[in-house]
Amino acid sequence: MSSAERYNALKGVQDIYPREVFIWQKIENTAKDVFSAYGFQELRAPIIETTDIFVRSIGETTDIVEKEMYTFPDKAGRSITLRPEGTAPLVRCYVQNHLYNLPSPQKFFYSGPMFRYERPQKGRFRQFYQIGVEALGSSDPKLDAEIISMLRLFFERLGLEGLHFEVNSIGCEKCRPDYKNALLNFFSDKINRLCPDCKRRFEYNPLRILDCKVDECITLRTGAPKVIEFLCNECRDHFNALLYLLSLLNISYDINPDMVRGLDYYTRTTFEVTTKQLGAQNAVAAGGRYDKLVEEFGGPPTPAIGFAIGMERVVELLQLSNKEEIPHPKVFIAAIGASAEKEALIIATRFREDGIWVEIGYAGNSLKSQMRRADRLSADYVLIIGDDEISSGKLKWKHLSDRTQGEILFSEVHDFFK
Ligand code: HAM
Repeated sequence: MSSAERYNALKGVQDIYPREVFIWQKIENTAKDVFSAYGFQELRAPIIETTDIFVRSIGETTDIVEKEMYTFPDKAGRSITLRPEGTAPLVRCYVQNHLYNLPSPQKFFYSGPMFRYERPQKGRFRQFYQIGVEALGSSDPKLDAEIISMLRLFFERLGLEGLHFEVNSIGCEKCRPDYKNALLNFFSDKINRLCPDCKRRFEYNPLRILDCKVDECITLRTGAPKVIEFLCNECRDHFNALLYLLSLLNISYDINPDMVRGLDYYTRTTFEVTTKQLGAQNAVAAGGRYDKLVEEFGGPPTPAIGFAIGMERVVELLQLSNKEEIPHPKVFIAAIGASAEKEALIIATRFREDGIWVEIGYAGNSLKSQMRRADRLSADYVLIIGDDEISSGKLKWKHLSDRTQGEILFSEVHDFFK
């Protein structure tokens, strides 16, 4: 390994350059605006938690817990995990701080990096970012519909089209056992052909076989019973009420009876937003209900629902849509000679006080090289100041894209650009 390679970033993580960060900020700001209108407020939870928090909530037999967590002992020997998702830490915070004593439902959003030791590929990273929301304290399907309509508004505000909403219900602790039995029946004569993980899942959690990525297991599960056929009356009524409300809000959706989601905490409603534009990693946001999780963490019965948006995938969609204008300076001041340079600095400072992005040339740059830099930066205007301009009291301006140009008095330049 050369020393240059030795200091490379880790596999599956990315540096995000300023040209992209402005898209990230646009997404974050849009989320904040849209979510605020629905009463969601930001909560910042830690990035590290004790490992049990994730094992308990996401589930021991899930891919995340079995294979993907960044888990290590800290200096005191405690098992620590870099959060692979944001729901469990938020619920931990909710219970630990007795937030359930506040009026329900409580509505939160969060954003930041998550960590999963997955095989990196296009759209799949080991450090990736999510913006998520969680609403705790109501089982009303109206809340499910509101959350899904909020997600739709978020994508609409970003101008993204061609997104597909898929919904399902995966039942509750009452109807799940019947479904589990049906799966056990279905897979009982196929156990030997299942992958080693799924053999174990058959014992502990057969639902997880439906989420396995191994080709043979995908083939073997063709024709497996669908969870939706096993819903109890309450879950069926809840699902039907949600579907009615989605139609009322003109949200187009498909029921995807195969969607089981990769985390164990879900109950009833699950949903995903997918796109055909990103290849294999086609889910841009996903979520669902987790009506029992607060209790699992020792809190009172508190039905809840949320989702998380995959930032990198939304950034990529925006880049593909080609609608993003890269930020650039309004004015570049090219100055030749000591007095002109001083004048340029004074003018630039006044513009900047008004929030106008101005760039100037630096010592030793010829007019030609300053003009080249203005071009590279895609400045709207270049102002040119030399000895002649100083003595005439007028400076030259050029508009770079439409090639118009003219002269303007020093005393008027500020108002001209304001
Ligand atoms: P999730 O389906 O695991 O759900 O992740 C949500 C989204 O995060 C995915 O749809 C995808 O866009 C993005 N994502 C996941 N893994 C990666 C990765 N390795 N690289 C890039 N993007 C990725 C959750 O995390 C749940 N906590 C969502 C939730 C919130 N459910 C209820 N509340």
